[in-house]
Amino acid sequence: MCGIVAYCGAPPAVPRLLSGLKRLEYRGYDSVGVGLLHRPDDRLCVHRAAGRLTDLVAALPNSGLEAVTTGIGHTRWATHGQPTAANAHPHQDCTQMIAVVHNGTIDNADEVTDWLDARGHKIATEVDTELIAHLIEEHLLEACDPLRASPVTTTEGPADRVAGPAALERLVAAVAGAVEHLRGSWALAVAMDGVPGIVLARHRSPLLLGVTRTALMAASDALGLGPHVEDVRELRDGDVVALAPNRQVSWYDRGGRAVAPPDPLRLSVRHVDAELGGALDYTSKEIAGQPAAAARILDTVAGRLVGGRLLDDLGLPSTLPVHLLACGSSAYAAAVTARLLTQFAGLRTRVMTASERIASPSDGDVLTVAFSQSGETADVLACLQDGRRGPWLAITNNPGSTLARRCDAVFDIQCGPELAVAATKSFTTQVLAGAALALALSTSRSRRDILAWERVLLAVPDRLAATDALAAPIAAELASTFAGQPGWIFISRGAGVPYAQEGALKLKELAYRWTEALPAGELKHGPIALVTSGVPVVAVTAMPTQRLAVNLREVAARGAQVITVGGRIPDAVLPAVLPAREPPWGPLESVVALQHLAREVAVELGHDVDRPRNLAKSVTVE
Ligand code: M6R
Repeated sequence: MCGIVAYCGAPPAVPRLLSGLKRLEYRGYDSVGVGLLHRPDDRLCVHRAAGRLTDLVAALPNSGLEAVTTGIGHTRWATHGQPTAANAHPHQDCTQMIAVVHNGTIDNADEVTDWLDARGHKIATEVDTELIAHLIEEHLLEACDPLRASPVTTTEGPADRVAGPAALERLVAAVAGAVEHLRGSWALAVAMDGVPGIVLARHRSPLLLGVTRTALMAASDALGLGPHVEDVRELRDGDVVALAPNRQVSWYDRGGRAVAPPDPLRLSVRHVDAELGGALDYTSKEIAGQPAAAARILDTVAGRLVGGRLLDDLGLPSTLPVHLLACGSSAYAAAVTARLLTQFAGLRTRVMTASERIASPSDGDVLTVAFSQSGETADVLACLQDGRRGPWLAITNNPGSTLARRCDAVFDIQCGPELAVAATKSFTTQVLAGAALALALSTSRSRRDILAWERVLLAVPDRLAATDALAAPIAAELASTFAGQPGWIFISRGAGVPYAQEGALKLKELAYRWTEALPAGELKHGPIALVTSGVPVVAVTAMPTQRLAVNLREVAARGAQVITVGGRIPDAVLPAVLPAREPPWGPLESVVALQHLAREVAVELGHDVDRPRNLAKSVTVE
């Protein structure tokens, strides 16, 4: 996970770095730091804090920052070592002259540690990134003294030995040499005391470089670059890049040889509306934003489902088996879509949790549909590297993302920035995109059939708005009754199961409650043993309702507190406005009621609903 930024050029660098970090905080927010080079002699100062960006800002000095021309920054989601100030990036070498920020994981950290230990380096933290700083130090020392056999013994740093006009080039060579020792993934930005500029490197972790009128800016993703960049280029695996304060950029390959830069990307960095606009938190703003978001995406597909026009416009074939892959909430949206593709469109499908992917026996081309709100989820991106058989479609909220850039076609869910960590409107709009795709792929269905379901689809925004109004106050009442319950069970049938799973995930994430989510028919096969007096059982109404009603009687007989969601069975406790006949994509509107329930329980328990503990918006490590 984590986000990195780098800025090189005209002052003021610090506000630019901080605003880049703010935009990247969705990637991790448990600790944060910056490494700053001060004029006139590029003196390096490192500042780190446990907690959020606001904690770092409070720890920065009150004066002297206006002299900063260049810097690197990092917002962290801990993978190695606790989220403390000491473990926050930038990490440094023995001499404290080198500062490194890193996104990714070093797989051979133990081996590198042993090697550095033997050469006398003092490793201060458990964080794999620190090793990179020592490796760079080692390579700088070696460049000065190729015959050096003895370990590091001096506190005299390598900076003075590489000072002068060639300093940045020497740092490039040292970074290129250092990464040769590593296995794993990295996007790196390196600053060094006395060296004017920054060095970047990348291997299997995205890193973009953009140019503004006065400076160079690098970031883990397009959002971090901010609105003023032009000419954005993505580093290739193995690239090492030097950024000089005069905005000169030099590209090198993994051997340190000069290479041509990659072509510029065509991407638009979307403006992020970070205002709460009267809402109590981003989660409630984003739940309430679903009718508008749904209307926006449906507007783009209306009239393009019959005859598969949507497919033609995306440049995709309509006859291939479909593989769907995603993680978390996006995987539940993929599950809804897969069911529709199989049962309604009659296509062969396979849903894969991206983190658990296994290569399937090759039986020809498939259409692979990757669902990812952020388009930066490492497990999803890793699937792209496993080999491709046929076209890839990204269903994403981020058309500038790594996933979108690497897929053959992009279906932009355009639900607007989702700043709360828990997925809400992105889930709803992913389901709508999946439903539209499946209707467009239903070539064996009659035109009349497709048009009838298209009309039901186009009425989703109204039903979402009606559900929002009805469910919010009732969810608050339920939360005040049930918030103290430590364990909850979520059930449904058929097309309702992924929505029950999504509701359970929301409660876990926001309220930190243990949840079990399963098809209602599975209760008797074991999980019903969990039901004791007072355990809340949340049942999402779905067909066949008679069988679900039987399961509810069984849990009620054992003392469960049944919370029905939707309509009909018998009269829902938590209302959701559903179409008269269940559509092939199931009871989508119920999810709004479930989102309110999870948020209200979290609020009742006093949690930060937008930034739940241990989570990050975008999971950028495998
Ligand atoms: O950005 P992505 O859709 O690829 O993210 C996938 C999951 O990490 C994400 O849906 C996660 O489960 C959310 N926190 C759910 O609310």
